[in-house]
Amino acid sequence: MQAKLKNFKKNLLYYEAAMKQLKTYLEILNTEISFLDIDNPINHVSTRIKSTESIILKLQRKNLPLTIESLNSLNDIVGARIVCDFLDNVYLVSDKLKNNKNIKIIEVKDYIKNPKNSGYRGIHLIIEIPVSIDGTLKNIRSEIQIRTVCMDSWASNEHKLNYKHVSTSKEVKDELRANAEQVWKVDLSMNKLYQEKKVKNKGIIETIENISKYKWRVQNEI
Ligand code: GTP
Ligand code: MG
Repeated sequence: MQAKLKNFKKNLLYYEAAMKQLKTYLEILNTEISFLDIDNPINHVSTRIKSTESIILKLQRKNLPLTIESLNSLNDIVGARIVCDFLDNVYLVSDKLKNNKNIKIIEVKDYIKNPKNSGYRGIHLIIEIPVSIDGTLKNIRSEIQIRTVCMDSWASNEHKLNYKHVSTSKEVKDELRANAEQVWKVDLSMNKLYQEKKVKNKGIIETIENISKYKWRVQNEI
């Protein structure tokens, strides 16, 4: 029993280490990406480890026994959420993560192209992070959710009003789905404005570059 418990606790160390590594990768990504735009395309990032209570409930829901094997079959004990201001940024962040050599992409779920029945939108990446403890290497799975601010606020409210509640009425579900569609329209409109602003900014940046080149030439000619 003692050995089993020790083994279980040791297993949890891998998840804690994976979360710390993931946090660092995302901080680096955030810095890298902030050089691409005047405003940082990432609004905020959060990470979490699933609570023991939620793990047990999820295993019960999936009819799995309380074993390390079952634990390792869950993809989302370690989770991260990246919230971006605009839709284009969600795909930018997703592409950057796909190119990251530190993580291995296992699955991409694009709930923006194919929203869930509830109306939920977002991109989920199931990834693997190699973690070495005491000379033993394990690939720890993790779920990264990438959403816009609009999608995130809808999901946060819907989570409280409906998600995994068994008793929600059809009327409420329909209304929540309709709200998701409204939010999606706002996302599309905001993204259009963002693209237009980027084109204008590009012009301004080129003008500033040309002026400074001209100044430099004039100074050199004098
Ligand atoms: P889980 O068993 O809940 O982890 O679902 P899954 O393994 O089928 O993965 P899925 O990609 O469907 O969803 C994983 C996570 O995305 C959830 O834990 C939520 O955080 C979020 N999510 C998915 N669908 C919804 C939804 O309809 N509403 C809200 N609010 N969140 C959702
Ligand atoms: Mg989950």
